[in-house]
Amino acid sequence: MTDAPRAARPQSASITQMTEYVLPQHTNALGGVFGGQIMAWMDLCAAICAQRHSGRMAVTAYVDDLKFEQPVRVGEVVRLEARVTATFRTSMEIEVIVQGEDATTGRRWPCVTARLTFVAIDDSRHPTPIPPLLLDTEEVKASQAAGEARRRSRLAPHT
Ligand SMILES: CC(C)(COP(=O)(O)OP(=O)(O)OC[C@H]1O[C@@H](n2cnc3c(N)ncnc32)[C@H](O)[C@@H]1OP(=O)(O)O)[C@@H](O)C(=O)NCCC(=O)NCCS
Repeated sequence: MTDAPRAARPQSASITQMTEYVLPQHTNALGGVFGGQIMAWMDLCAAICAQRHSGRMAVTAYVDDLKFEQPVRVGEVVRLEARVTATFRTSMEIEVIVQGEDATTGRRWPCVTARLTFVAIDDSRHPTPIPPLLLDTEEVKASQAAGEARRRSRLAPHT
């Protein structure tokens, strides 16, 4: 495989969805899904999205702030959707939106939204260039610009 930059890829090509059913082993003492379990599912969903976009293995480099909005309980469903929101040279920002769902009624509610930065790695496990995001809509152009601004603050030295 070559490390030469490849053609831009549309956001739609790597959107990744996962559905998990909440069992007792996923929960905390209050019967809601353990936060660490949701984070693990988010990391997996984002990793698949990163690999689909880059065509490479990719590692988690950074996770932005996480806010758990509403719990998901035993017998309910966790829905995850990941999309590439911005690309850089070897890294990409991936947004993961997590919702709870009552499968018996179809009701859905917000659980967590977070952005993760993944770095594509080559066979020697060194960062390797990725295809840019195809800026084919105003929404994706705005997403890339917002991602660049977030990256500047993410990488800024903390004083
Ligand atoms: C992520 C990792 C590959 C970066 O390696 P590195 O030698 O620091 O590489 P570089 O300095 O060349 O940076 C590579 C890219 O990572 C980005 N990066 C590195 N640290 C980052 C951070 N804290 N936040 C966001 N991006 C980061 C750089 O900005 C650069 O992106 P760009 O090429 O798009 O500009 C390396 O730190 C690593 O392997 N970390 C452990 C990953 C891991 O174990 N994750 C959990 C399991 S998957």
